[in-house]
Amino acid sequence: MKNELILDTNPKSSVAEAIRIIRTNLQFSSADKEVKTILVTSSIAGEGKSFTSSNLAIAFAQNGKRVLLIDCDLRRGRLHKIFGLENDKGLSNLLISDIQADFSGYLKKTNIKNLFLLSSGSVPPNPSELLDSKKNKTLIQLLSKKFDYVIFDGTPVGGLTDSVIMSKYVDKVVVVCAINYTKVEQLVNTQKTLENIGADIAGVIVNKIPESYSSYYGGYYGHYYQND
Ligand SMILES: Nc1ncnc2c1ncn2[C@@H]1O[C@H](COP(=O)(O)OP(=O)(O)OP(=O)(O)O)[C@@H](O)[C@H]1O
Ligand SMILES: [Mg+2]
Repeated sequence: MKNELILDTNPKSSVAEAIRIIRTNLQFSSADKEVKTILVTSSIAGEGKSFTSSNLAIAFAQNGKRVLLIDCDLRRGRLHKIFGLENDKGLSNLLISDIQADFSGYLKKTNIKNLFLLSSGSVPPNPSELLDSKKNKTLIQLLSKKFDYVIFDGTPVGGLTDSVIMSKYVDKVVVVCAINYTKVEQLVNTQKTLENIGADIAGVIVNKIPESYSSYYGGYYGHYYQND
């Protein structure tokens, strides 16, 4: 299995440097409100949400912050695989348990200092309903008190409501698109859908820029466009 945690394995690479720039931009993205909870989403499958959220979470942790990465792709979550962990007790299981009780057993320690993972858990029959619950909202409030940053890896916005639901609960939303892959109208639809619900979009990451382009553009795999 390829190692996708490049912030850990290849911290000097241009991709790692780009992710650190995104981290800094997010930290400074709002003067008026504290940014603690960040959802990473995209328009369609395979644009790099899980890759980006995992590495962004490491970037925050490497900055000395206490970070929780949550896999809220309850349908096909794979963050536990990326981090080489089990998916026995995850978000879906927690959402049908007593969240006021001690749930620290659900938060898995990763090999990265300061970084914990709440994996997706057993695939439920009703992912959107679970995410749209009062319990989920309360859980996010509880977790954001325990960590400096909570990063959510979501599903694509196109065709599924899961990330649209999650976008209501977080401080900032980051949209990933992939060069030569995401269609402009898909990205525009994603922006409209998220804006309609009042999501606070921090910016768009252009992912998967080929090496040949990236050296031309200064070595960055992804460019981050601030919305405001
Ligand atoms: N910048 C990158 N450099 C190298 N590989 C990447 C990069 N971004 C994504 N990938 C690879 O592309 C594939 C798809 O990425 P990823 O799983 O993160 O997408 P996703 O948006 O989470 O997909 P899904 O919608 O299926 O959850 C993975 O194999 C991942 O390792
Ligand atoms: Mg994913």
